[in-house]
Amino acid sequence: MSRLDSFIRRLSAQKILIEHALELIADVPGPILELGLGVARTYDHMRTLAPEREIFAFDNVVVAPIDMLPDAHHFILGEIRETLAFCAPRVGGRAALLHNDIGSGDEIHNAATRAWLAPLVPPAMAPGGIVVTSFTMDLPGYEKLPTPPGIRANRYHIYRAPRG
Ligand SMILES: C[S@@+](CC[C@H](N)C(=O)[O-])C[C@H]1O[C@@H](n2cnc3c(N)ncnc32)[C@H](O)[C@@H]1O
Repeated sequence: MSRLDSFIRRLSAQKILIEHALELIADVPGPILELGLGVARTYDHMRTLAPEREIFAFDNVVVAPIDMLPDAHHFILGEIRETLAFCAPRVGGRAALLHNDIGSGDEIHNAATRAWLAPLVPPAMAPGGIVVTSFTMDLPGYEKLPTPPGIRANRYHIYRAPRG
């Protein structure tokens, strides 16, 4: 598969998954955490589809177009390994949806990220909240949900937090 086809497939999968996840959290109150604002493609899709939700975006660089940036309150700038565990006073509540988009095509990098990121996720999540992630995570007590049709097996993963 060409890199162009692979890129198109990745973005299509993200669109399908985000729309699916937003349906899954219809009855779960709480903000959305976007790990990896990047150029704000997925952030902008979520805020377009869920304008009633607060979305907090995390990144350690600013590369998004200026008109796509969240306001200062909703942009948590810095290394996620350091900010995620301490964002509660700003975020103000546990997340209905966490979208992890800081993975890469490098499995070693993903394994290293998984090791520090996974333990930080459950304390940030609301009961019944949804985690969408490009790499698997060890989330004790979480239910691994099937991905919707159109997503290549093992490309993305969806987990649901215990209802409490
Ligand atoms: C693949 S891009 C995100 C793409 C974005 N979701 C979009 O749709 O445009 C990954 C982003 O995560 C950020 N990132 C990766 N690891 C990070 C970390 N440990 N802490 C903070 N930001 C990180 C990178 O700077 C990059 O902007």
